[in-house]
Amino acid sequence: MCGIVGYVGQEQAAPILLDGLSKLEYRGYDSAGVCVFDEGVLKVAKAKGRLQALIDLTDGGKALHGCVGIGHTRWATHGAPSDTNSHPHMADSGKIAVVHNGIIENYLELKELLMARGKKFHSETDTEVVANLIEFYYDMGCDFKDAVQKAVSRVEGSYALGVLCRDYPDTIIGVKKDSPLIFGYGQGCNFIASDVPAILKYTRDVVYLNDGDLLVMDKDSVHFYDQHGEHIQKQPEHVSWELSAAEKGGYAHFMLKEIHEQPKAVRDTIHPRIKDGRVVLDDIQLPASYLEHLKRIYIVACGSAYYVGIHGKYIIENLCQVPVEPVLASEFRYADPVLDDTTLVVIISQSGETADTLAALREAKRRGARTLAIVNVVGSSIAKTADDVLYTWAGPEIAVATTKAFSTQLSVMYLLALYIAQDLRTLPQARYDQLLTDLLALPDKIERVIAPETIQQIQYYASQYFNNHDVFFIGRHLDSATCLEGSLKLKEIAYIHSEAYAAGELKHGPISLIENGTLVVATATNPKLFDKTMSNVKEVKARGADVLGITIEDLGGEIAKTMDSAILIPKTELLYQPSLSVVVLQTFAYYVALMRGCDVDKPRNLAKSVTVE
Ligand code: G6P
Repeated sequence: MCGIVGYVGQEQAAPILLDGLSKLEYRGYDSAGVCVFDEGVLKVAKAKGRLQALIDLTDGGKALHGCVGIGHTRWATHGAPSDTNSHPHMADSGKIAVVHNGIIENYLELKELLMARGKKFHSETDTEVVANLIEFYYDMGCDFKDAVQKAVSRVEGSYALGVLCRDYPDTIIGVKKDSPLIFGYGQGCNFIASDVPAILKYTRDVVYLNDGDLLVMDKDSVHFYDQHGEHIQKQPEHVSWELSAAEKGGYAHFMLKEIHEQPKAVRDTIHPRIKDGRVVLDDIQLPASYLEHLKRIYIVACGSAYYVGIHGKYIIENLCQVPVEPVLASEFRYADPVLDDTTLVVIISQSGETADTLAALREAKRRGARTLAIVNVVGSSIAKTADDVLYTWAGPEIAVATTKAFSTQLSVMYLLALYIAQDLRTLPQARYDQLLTDLLALPDKIERVIAPETIQQIQYYASQYFNNHDVFFIGRHLDSATCLEGSLKLKEIAYIHSEAYAAGELKHGPISLIENGTLVVATATNPKLFDKTMSNVKEVKARGADVLGITIEDLGGEIAKTMDSAILIPKTELLYQPSLSVVVLQTFAYYVALMRGCDVDKPRNLAKSVTVE
């Protein structure tokens, strides 16, 4: 969601900004723009649509001359995607240019105040209000930095801002609250960006800004300030991963690459945390004395991460005998959850920046619960806010539709459940040992799911069903949770209406939607519940549905008795089976989307990192 890049140095800024924006495309956007100091004048170019439109408009950036600039990819919130609503936004008198990620909640009130003082507005955005507010303070006699600081102190909501001032042609100011912004140290140049890939070509030494931090940078120096304008020191962190990790590396799409990275990502997440026959979570502090009094766990997240939470309920309740409640972050933050120091709130987020999830985390802390975040992005707001953090070592995930982050979140769920179980002694030793053995073997089994034979089979079924208008995913127990993710994937990237239902629930309504040719994907990996799910399959077949099954190799013969089309996956511990079936569902959605001609990595209307409410 909205990407920001800023550059000040000795090279032409526009091509660097465009390149940086191309690395942020994964965040989701619908227009793009840049502003460059061109012979002392703030020149803006912006275009609705893909970044390529802006690249064409500016001849790859060559049409704009100057070594200082800011760039932006916009995901529309206030006002439709259009050239006018695209960023950067200029203030009315043309002294200030702003790029913004976030939402200014009190923008209407500020807009009225500014209009009463003669400011004219040209777009429908909240961002234009910030540009004008800064200009207002600047015209009142504040210097550039103080004008920005004063303006943000009046703003309610979330923001990461990159700001230029006509009278400071060597300077960029960056400031943030509740939306991500990093600073990058270059050689004879400096950067700001929403995320590391945008600037990794130029620097590995970055500072993750905290809420309230403001920076003033030119090509040779940077100064950091807190929200009161006091000078502060910030330590750079070194980024160790390679840019290739954020590039396609020969795959047609990031999503396909990330599907194939899952064995490694899951291995990296699990293996270092199993030592001498125990789960060792060195990174967190959940003392036995705390766990013994644990009465309830809430798992709070959005989107796919929430679906990991639903899996978590089955897994943790089974292994630890502690009640677990998965809750959507957007609901949790405004509900009245009963929390105290006997409640653990587990927050799951790939980006660590999702606005609702971050707000839910703060609410949980405010109400006195202990919080543990499962996060992929190091240094993100959620990672910094939670009492404890367990990182998923998925590496950068670029495709909007999550795959490897989901799988690593699921892996952390297994680790966390085993960790709590070992402290609470809820498992016999033999069962515990077997669970660890199976967990260590899981990455190799995921490898088998993405073997060419299985992929070809999935491609074949995608070619059979890609024209369907409605798809139902059914399953029982953990399979029903995995179906939610399979259904979401298909909606997200293939734009097919799909629903996920607990198989036993189908007859309580949704079965009325089954017609000749409706596709039902039945996931049945639990031998104990297999026959029950097959009964539901027969019910939908009797009403004309086409059924595609997913089950374990051992049940291959059995499933063939009920349906002609089935994909077989290796057998593992029942609780880990979703890690294998979800890979089939992700891959199925990928090929269906591809065959429908969809933009797989950048699905319409979606953003990777949802930093607005
Ligand atoms: C967006 C993404 C989803 C993701 C959700 C939560 O909707 O498209 O893939 O599951 O946000 O994101 P988070 O970064 O908090 O995991």
